[in-house]
Amino acid sequence: MNTEYAETELAEPHLRRLLGTAGLDVEYVSGEGNTLHHRAGNGSLIPVLDFAGGYGSLILGHNHPEIVARARELLDARSPVHAQFSSHPYANRLAAELNRIIHRETGVEEPYYATFANSGAEAIEAAVKHAELDRGARLSALLAETRASAEETRAAVLAGRATVAAPVHERLGVPRPARDEDGIDLLIAEASRHNAEVAGRPPVLLALQGGFHGKLMGSVQLTHNEGYRAPFATLGVRTRFVPMDRPDVLKEVLEQESGTLYELRHRAGRVELAEREHPAYCAFLLEPVQGEGGIRPLSRKFAEDIQEFGRQADCPLVVDEVQSGMGRTGALLASAALGLRGDYYALAKSLGGGLAKASVMLVREARYRPEFELVHSSTFAKDSFSCHIALKVLELLEADGGRLYRQAAERGEALAAMLRRVAAAFPDVVKEVRGRGLMQGFEFHDQSGARSPRLAEAARSGLFGYVVAGHLLHAHAIRTFPTASAVHTLRFEPSVLLTDDEIARLERALTDVCRIVRDQAAERLAVP
Ligand code: F0G
Repeated sequence: MNTEYAETELAEPHLRRLLGTAGLDVEYVSGEGNTLHHRAGNGSLIPVLDFAGGYGSLILGHNHPEIVARARELLDARSPVHAQFSSHPYANRLAAELNRIIHRETGVEEPYYATFANSGAEAIEAAVKHAELDRGARLSALLAETRASAEETRAAVLAGRATVAAPVHERLGVPRPARDEDGIDLLIAEASRHNAEVAGRPPVLLALQGGFHGKLMGSVQLTHNEGYRAPFATLGVRTRFVPMDRPDVLKEVLEQESGTLYELRHRAGRVELAEREHPAYCAFLLEPVQGEGGIRPLSRKFAEDIQEFGRQADCPLVVDEVQSGMGRTGALLASAALGLRGDYYALAKSLGGGLAKASVMLVREARYRPEFELVHSSTFAKDSFSCHIALKVLELLEADGGRLYRQAAERGEALAAMLRRVAAAFPDVVKEVRGRGLMQGFEFHDQSGARSPRLAEAARSGLFGYVVAGHLLHAHAIRTFPTASAVHTLRFEPSVLLTDDEIARLERALTDVCRIVRDQAAERLAVP
């Protein structure tokens, strides 16, 4: 290996140095369950309790033995990982199994068609691309109908079979001629001009404030965090961000963003100007539990408001279950418990069992556009390895009547109960505990005005959560991080294998942190 490169870091050195300031740039050399190991100076292995959980991708923990065994089987069998443009029965089986579970959890029977990808953001991009393909097709069909109707109306007027009702000229702002046949072309031209202007508007994309849907060129436009999105806004679509729990804003959106296309038509010898709903809305993206935005569960009431908005606006709902799905809250879909029914679902992270990179976008049959399959693809998507691993993940989650879902819910409640206990003991330090199942957030009060200069400075620079994470790691061998868009909130997303001892260990560690913050004793923080 070229030793010159060994010294000069070339793989995101700036990030590694930033992690280093909080002592988080540790190299882990092995992992199983909720434990990672790194090497001490003397070469011994130090176990670290991992509550970051692969940022939600390890519902079954690190290197789950049955997932590893399945991976070994596949590799020993020399199964062709990449056999693009061929029959992929394993992908069909995976899509069918996902459908079976979704139907059970939501009570719907409509098939959902699967497009596979490699990451959460890719699944989101596939969903929005498909939604825009669908919207464009609906818009083109509607414009064709209005043109056909205009032609038919023109013929009827010229043949003296129809006369133009008075309001039509007023509404189109066209002077009324002596004879209808002298003005029909002007009416058609004005209606077409209006339709072209409305149809030419950019698609309406909606997402929730605090939402996170990825950092790729398209998905970053849907992610609320200004820091991630603003530098790239010129590259993509404009998203309208809706505040949580504000049904009144949904009504405003409906009034402001909806539009109509004109259709000149004749009925019983009278020419009328009908209005047809403009398919303005591309998609509404939402997470049942916002993850990166600070672990914020969507309320059932607002989920219902959004579902009703989607119905009224004919706006497809893209339910982003990349982090909340795959059993983490006690079901495949966290949204099912909210009574939400998605037009699209995105699943990723734990779908790959902690070994494969896999994601999937599911679109319900009524909206499905088969032609999408011919214009969207990715080299590694739908590969046999990730499909087989994902099938194994679902098999484990579904075993014994869904025992692991129930376990995730029970373990999550045990974790949340402990977090609430610590918060109750330190109301001056802890602002809120939020979450569902094994997706929990622990929010500290903002320390920007703290007496301790070090704590205040860390808070003001957005690093308070990372400083706490550094202390948890070096004083308690516990690994977690703040949610990047809500830096006072620590995220806890362990695997379903979480034990009472691990919860107790975390309780001792968080109690220590809260005492340090209460005492403003930054000198007690473990520094690397
Ligand atoms: N959607 C949600 C809800 C996510 O939490 C993430 C990633 C993505 C999409 C993008 O998935 O990283 O595989 O492209 N969440 C990470 C986090 C970044 O901080 O939890 P990706």
